[in-house]
Amino acid sequence: MNKSGLVYQNGAFISPQEAKVSIFDRGFLYGDSIYEVTLTYKGKPFLVEEHLDRLWHSADGIGLSIQMKREELTRIIHEGARKLGLERQYIRIIITRGIGDLGLDPALGEEQTTLILFKELPALDTALYEKGVTLFTSEVLRNPKKSMDPSVKSGNYLNNVLAIKQAREAGAYDAVMLNAKGYVTESTSANIWMVLGESIITPPLEAGLLGGITRQKVMELGKAQGFDIKEQNFTVDTLKSANEVFITSSTREVLPVTQVDNQVIGLGVPGPKTKELHKHYKTFILNLN
Ligand code: PDD
Repeated sequence: MNKSGLVYQNGAFISPQEAKVSIFDRGFLYGDSIYEVTLTYKGKPFLVEEHLDRLWHSADGIGLSIQMKREELTRIIHEGARKLGLERQYIRIIITRGIGDLGLDPALGEEQTTLILFKELPALDTALYEKGVTLFTSEVLRNPKKSMDPSVKSGNYLNNVLAIKQAREAGAYDAVMLNAKGYVTESTSANIWMVLGESIITPPLEAGLLGGITRQKVMELGKAQGFDIKEQNFTVDTLKSANEVFITSSTREVLPVTQVDNQVIGLGVPGPKTKELHKHYKTFILNLN
């Protein structure tokens, strides 16, 4: 077994090097696909039900009826993680509308392609959590909900690819993506939060963003701890005036942001509420295992 990774494809577990997708696959041709990313803690897949709920939401969003039974997918996710056997794994589930003759009509897609990639996930980079990361406001907008709805985790990530390209060229870790109204939505692959006075605020789903599973958990845990957590629209100017900023995602948990564009956030070090929320999130993870 290749310890660095494993792929489930068409009913078999194979190495990542053996896994191949046809040039006629609509995922490759048009980004006509959906996906999910989760990870393992102590070798166990994390929040599988929540990720599969979102996968089915994404499928609805592109009018795709997932051919594989949910129980079967669940079973394979657990089996793959067990087979690879590493404590900390990245798990990516991809479903495409399948192989078909060239043409945009989704009816051309025949049997769906279902792939699950399991690979080693490096430990969190402690330096990033001690120092915080920088964000750069990209000119590339997040799509309006009536375009390719950002709440759908689809294979269409080119806006986000272009946004992170701009951010990296500006020397930042990630981008702040705005919507057409000028409000903050999220970063290219994580949700954005700020601490303003006593309130902890993240943009509402209506702003056009992915309903992050970590976002949801942090919201629940924070509320249970008595934090004043709100979903509200805000501009990047308000973000820059915040006492603390952080981003959340499955693979990065709660990551402090200490600079947005040229503005240092708060005291320029990870803030106390950010650290406290991360601590509660870590406790939640520990209690699951
Ligand atoms: N990204 N926003 C976007 C656009 C994302 O792609 C992601 C996840 C998130 C955070 O969602 P969650 O908390 O459920 O991980 C927010 C994954 C990790 C990725 O594409 O690798």
